[in-house]
Amino acid sequence: MARLAINGGKPVRKKDFPFWPIFGEEERKNLLGVFESGKWWYGEKVKEFEEKFATFQDAKYGVTCTNGTAALQASLIACGIGAGDEVIVPPYTFVATATAVLKVNAIPVFADIDIETANIDLGDVKRKITPKTKAIIPVHFAGLPCDMDLLGDIAGGHNLRIIEDACHSWGSKWKEKGTGALGDCGVFSFQMSKNITSGEGGIVLTDNEELADAIRSYTNVGRGKDKPWYEHYILGTNLRMTELQAAILLGQLTRLKAQTLKRQENATYLDEKLKDIPGVRVMKKDSRITRRSYHLYIFRYIKEEWRGIERDRFIEALNKEGIPCNKGYPYPLYKNPLFSRKGEGPRYCPISCPYYGKEIDYTKISCPNTERICKEAIWVGHPVLLAEKEDMEDIVRAITKIRENLEEIK
Ligand SMILES: Cc1ncc(COP(=O)(O)O)c(C=O)c1O
Repeated sequence: MARLAINGGKPVRKKDFPFWPIFGEEERKNLLGVFESGKWWYGEKVKEFEEKFATFQDAKYGVTCTNGTAALQASLIACGIGAGDEVIVPPYTFVATATAVLKVNAIPVFADIDIETANIDLGDVKRKITPKTKAIIPVHFAGLPCDMDLLGDIAGGHNLRIIEDACHSWGSKWKEKGTGALGDCGVFSFQMSKNITSGEGGIVLTDNEELADAIRSYTNVGRGKDKPWYEHYILGTNLRMTELQAAILLGQLTRLKAQTLKRQENATYLDEKLKDIPGVRVMKKDSRITRRSYHLYIFRYIKEEWRGIERDRFIEALNKEGIPCNKGYPYPLYKNPLFSRKGEGPRYCPISCPYYGKEIDYTKISCPNTERICKEAIWVGHPVLLAEKEDMEDIVRAITKIRENLEEIK
């Protein structure tokens, strides 16, 4: 008789995991306050959120904007990155990390990731530096901070800017300082799937007043600090956050620390339980990470140690046991048609940039660890980690059950 749910057996669990987004009285009260104030536009609530979120991440300044993509672009502009410059990025990330670079007419140069952390491999970063390199965008992937000590040394040695893509790492700390406050500037997203959300939204954090002013100006149609309203100094655009978004975010922020700690506790428990299951690899730890946000809980599935059963089939089996998970990015960023298409469709200036002086051929790029993780990763979303310890036990039981009944899977 079949035991696995994929074959009609009884699933390990039928109960749902927590629903996201979570909201409460704080959001309701704040939103109503904004509605009734009649001031719905870029005012007190935005300022309050900028200050509170910057403080939460240990940064001096915060400048909100419409989303994480815009925040990346604004940061690149403020750091003076432009036509023909190279910016080193990982290929295991959301597309915006690289397209923000293209949008400022610069060239994304892909450095591979470390297979054990899913973060950019700093050895490969060093190899990818050229005289044209102006910045590095490390992504604290899934919330795991990159080695910011070593990255700082590399960047310092070559006079490069660090723009942290902290779009997964609200609440993470490297040696007690928040991510996003460790490089020249750091970028966060508040899109709906994120651990703190207003549906859409973004912020740039920095300790550098000049950068903060430049980002404010760019995101606010080029206006100058304390200057007349209809005077515009740079080619900015309108990327302002609304009071309604800030009202929601202020509510969300009241729960962020407790939620982060809860996810961390459950993820640590999962690591402990999963690390000894054959064919499962949990992500590497670093004692310099003093708090960790989990946007995703990731582990690697080593097919050869599961009698060659495909990862997709394992995921299907796990889903049927009542555990939500997915495979994440199907391939490295550079394999997207945007990068790999040659000689057809629209050409993007940076890919054949007159200022760059050479054509860049993304079809020739190879980042073996990224290619590998795209085949091995299993992602569990952060809302799952807001459940209780016994719910984590269900995840362990489901994986163990599949392991013990592998012969049932074709
Ligand atoms: C790593 C990373 N960078 C940047 C972004 C872009 O953020 P947004 O969707 O708010 O533009 C995201 C969003 O998914 C992301 O995951």
